[in-house]
Amino acid sequence: MCAETVPAPAPPIDADALRASDFPWTAETIYLNNASIGPLPERTLQALDAFNRRRTMPFTLPDRDLFGTLTTSRRLVSQLLSVAPEEIALTVNTGFGLSVIARALPLERGDRVLVSDKEFPANVYPWMRLREIGVEMELVPTTADGWPDEMRLLERLADPRVRVLAVSLVQFSNGYLADLAALSDATRRTGAYLVVDAIQGVGQIPVDLSRTQVDVLSCGAQKWLLSPWGSGFVYVRRELIPRLSPPVTGWMAFEGTDDFTRLTSYHDTLRGDARRFELITLPYQDFAGMNASLGLVHELGVRRIADHLQTLHAPVLDWADRTGVRVASPRGARGTGILCIAPPEVDRVFRALKAARIICSLREGAIRLSPHAYNTVAEMERVVEVLAAESGRTTA
Ligand SMILES: Cc1ncc(COP(=O)(O)O)c(C=O)c1O
Repeated sequence: MCAETVPAPAPPIDADALRASDFPWTAETIYLNNASIGPLPERTLQALDAFNRRRTMPFTLPDRDLFGTLTTSRRLVSQLLSVAPEEIALTVNTGFGLSVIARALPLERGDRVLVSDKEFPANVYPWMRLREIGVEMELVPTTADGWPDEMRLLERLADPRVRVLAVSLVQFSNGYLADLAALSDATRRTGAYLVVDAIQGVGQIPVDLSRTQVDVLSCGAQKWLLSPWGSGFVYVRRELIPRLSPPVTGWMAFEGTDDFTRLTSYHDTLRGDARRFELITLPYQDFAGMNASLGLVHELGVRRIADHLQTLHAPVLDWADRTGVRVASPRGARGTGILCIAPPEVDRVFRALKAARIICSLREGAIRLSPHAYNTVAEMERVVEVLAAESGRTTA
């Protein structure tokens, strides 16, 4: 019998070192709002500055470097999702990717798109607008907890008119993690397209599309991927690409357009890879910044980030359990790095946190705490101090 070598568990994230190297302002402010805006790491700021410095002298930015930047972006994103770079199109935000795909899918009058109620609007309006071509969006009510009702979604998939299921990987208002494996199995059985809005998940929870098949995944990089506004991507499953005709076309969406000496030799064959969905010219500087940020995310490792976030939640969850304050986020398998709590007089408690320089959000009646790799347990204990002081005032 030969002994199997079990890889040693990765050491936890050294948040103090990370704060010192890339997030120096954390000495003054407790920032727990990554589900709204991810801060740019210092290394990303430096990459942006260096790139923009070259932009002041465009002759220092040859095409080779510009397109090389985008090639690197597609590669880094593909590694994050365990897919091929050819399946990645760069976009400027989540909504753009979803809108393009909503119009590119081969849908017909009478078809239906399933969407859970309470989804972020970027994953609602592109589908709602398909009414113009006779495709109905069906909003499936959430459970009593306010989470997507996946049992109901699975049941509704049995309706042959349902051609698309569009879900957020992680719900913006409570952090609920979709059971992607179950939804993937079901859509594969019925042949419906599975489209995922992944902006609240990629970077904070591991995503492996080589294990769980989805058809399309759209993501802006401005939150959990700590990247500039204007950077994002859409994944389209390889087999689907040739079947999807983009409703808007960039001038490099076609085969043969890499040869800038013959631009007016027009081509009518769309690229065979996901670049057929790209609207060139893209904001190169933002993708140069995104590459630096993705470098950091890869260095830290998404699994380690996810584990770190669970450690950070513990003090707040302990306090909520001790005091009976409602936790509006799921725990266990459906939980993520987004933690929502709903104490009585939530508006007042939220204002108290703000006054204590603790930055978070108020969403759908709950305080949303969304820490990242650079946050510490000591910061979360400070949150508990403020929550406890405010709750004392409530009951006094
Ligand atoms: C689930 C979800 N989708 C999309 C967005 C943003 O979309 P976009 O990248 O198009 O601005 C957000 C947050 O702003 C979100 O929480």
